[in-house]
Amino acid sequence: MNGLDHRAGRIARIAGPVVGATGLEGIRLHDVVRVGELGLVGEVIRLTGDLATVQVYEDTSGIRVGEPVLSTGQPLVVQLGPGLLGSVYDGLQRPLKVLAEMTGHYIERGTSAMALPDDILWEFTPCVVVGQQVAPGKVLGVVPESQSIEHRIMVPPGLRGQIVEIRPGSFKLNDVIAVVESDGDGKRQEITLAQQWPVRSPRPSQAHLAPSEPLITGTRIVDAFFPVAKGGSAIIPGGFGTGKTVTEHSLARWADVDVVVYVGCGERGNEMAEVLQEFPTLEDPRTGAPLMERTVLIANTSNMPVAAREASIYTGITIAEYYRDMGYDVLMLADSTSRWGEALREISGRLEEMPGEEGYPAYLGARLAGFYERAGRVACLEGSPSSFNPSTGATAKRCGSVTVVGAISPPGGDFSEPMTQSSMRVTGTFWALDYDLSRRRHFPAINWTRSYSLYSLHDWFANQVAADWNELTGKAMALLQREAELLEIVQLVGPDALADAERAVLVVARMLREDFLHQSSYHQVDRYCPLEKTYWMLKIVMNFYRQAQAAVAGGVALERVASLPVVAEIARMKEVKVVAATAELEALMDRVQSSFAELGVN
Ligand SMILES: Nc1ncnc2c1ncn2[C@@H]1O[C@H](COP(=O)(O)OP(=O)(O)O)[C@@H](O)[C@H]1O
Ligand SMILES: [Mg+2]
Repeated sequence: MNGLDHRAGRIARIAGPVVGATGLEGIRLHDVVRVGELGLVGEVIRLTGDLATVQVYEDTSGIRVGEPVLSTGQPLVVQLGPGLLGSVYDGLQRPLKVLAEMTGHYIERGTSAMALPDDILWEFTPCVVVGQQVAPGKVLGVVPESQSIEHRIMVPPGLRGQIVEIRPGSFKLNDVIAVVESDGDGKRQEITLAQQWPVRSPRPSQAHLAPSEPLITGTRIVDAFFPVAKGGSAIIPGGFGTGKTVTEHSLARWADVDVVVYVGCGERGNEMAEVLQEFPTLEDPRTGAPLMERTVLIANTSNMPVAAREASIYTGITIAEYYRDMGYDVLMLADSTSRWGEALREISGRLEEMPGEEGYPAYLGARLAGFYERAGRVACLEGSPSSFNPSTGATAKRCGSVTVVGAISPPGGDFSEPMTQSSMRVTGTFWALDYDLSRRRHFPAINWTRSYSLYSLHDWFANQVAADWNELTGKAMALLQREAELLEIVQLVGPDALADAERAVLVVARMLREDFLHQSSYHQVDRYCPLEKTYWMLKIVMNFYRQAQAAVAGGVALERVASLPVVAEIARMKEVKVVAATAELEALMDRVQSSFAELGVN
């Protein structure tokens, strides 16, 4: 190691993943340093006088006081460019596959590797010409990164000027594809296919837009009752085994986005290994291409200390923002953010900060807010400021979004704990996983009385799906609430206390739960339910409800209603193949109608 480097310092103290270093001249907060003889990666998180406190992202065992500490002179950055999609990284964007090849099965400490492959030739097609004036965000040209994603090479933030050179052809990552003469100092700046960005700073955009469209997930309870907006944020808190990971995987696979960034921390020892094995075998349901072609995986491996988890969600969201800036809809999934919170707590403890609730630092809420605020739908920087009018909000040509969904693992499934509470305050949708439901194998175990969505997407559903969508979902929710009230009465005084009309509520609410809400992620057909099918399924159940109430009010015995043959057909509607769903379910709707007609009701 170069001991003559003017920024070299020495380790003064070591407390687990937190190391104190002195003698680092000119060091700044958030600079990345290399710690000890092994060159472990760390980040300066506090500066007091000559003492720099460093959070080390690798196991610090065996390092000693007095060993050197070197500053890299720059903050923690991610490398951005073609080749991101399909990659599997650790929390510091070190490619796991490459690392494994370099060091054997485990990643050795202090290893560095290029985040992006620099030997692949990419076919670059320019979309600007020499002489053209450009500004940050301007798309200079495109590279086909995968079958479904065109990688748009943009002018990096901060650069404004005139194109003096640009050409089509095959280029490697670090080849110069264009030269821009900067307006400011007249300097010529070379642009390659790659750029970098500090993970802790949100990437700039032209304007934040109100979220107005739902993220379509293919999960009925989510799409119908608790949707999250594209550019919004949702949390999935739930105890062990309630379905956080299954839900996140199903979102990764089926949500209607262009790019998915999945940050896994792994609750169970082998969980991350399962993800790493499973994802590469999955198919993108829309294109038939491998799912990994539009996915970036960030895995916190078990041999990395907690501090690396702290960095990983920032690495993830920065990559997500980069694809957003190209004009894509991106979904960032984090499983589980509680592991991130624990890292924060451990580091804070080592820093001997005043602990807040349950030992979490007092700034937990602020950190969570800062993270979730990076979700959003934006008008992208386009390099031509006249194309967007902030006062009308119109005419931006390129919009992109980052939707964030974070799982939370509250100890004992108790939502009153700090991670759940602080996350709730800064996110829009709450999918409360329920231990009781999962124990009864009702999946997804999303509790419909505790969950909520703050996004107002009614107009979208009414315009894009059906005019009566909101009426149907509202009535269905009311029916479930009525069921909960009635079940309390039954518990107190027994079922005989209920009138037939009330028992009808119980019969149909059960139908709604079992035939509509229940949806297995493992069922070949039912794991994905498009909106049109969701709509018809709900319409059929609610129509059955209306008819059943009329029948019972007209004196028909509830037993006759409950034993109608269409009841069994309704129970099988989730198995109706997607391609035929609308036609088959419309026909079933007619049969519901005629069945009641035969009972003498209409
Ligand atoms: N949507 C679902 N459909 C079918 N089974 C599910 C679903 N969600 C959860 N499960 C079942 O519950 C188990 C535990 O889910 P998991 O997501 O691993 O829980 P968590 O991550 O909350 O600990 C799964 O292995 C699966 O059997
Ligand atoms: Mg899990």
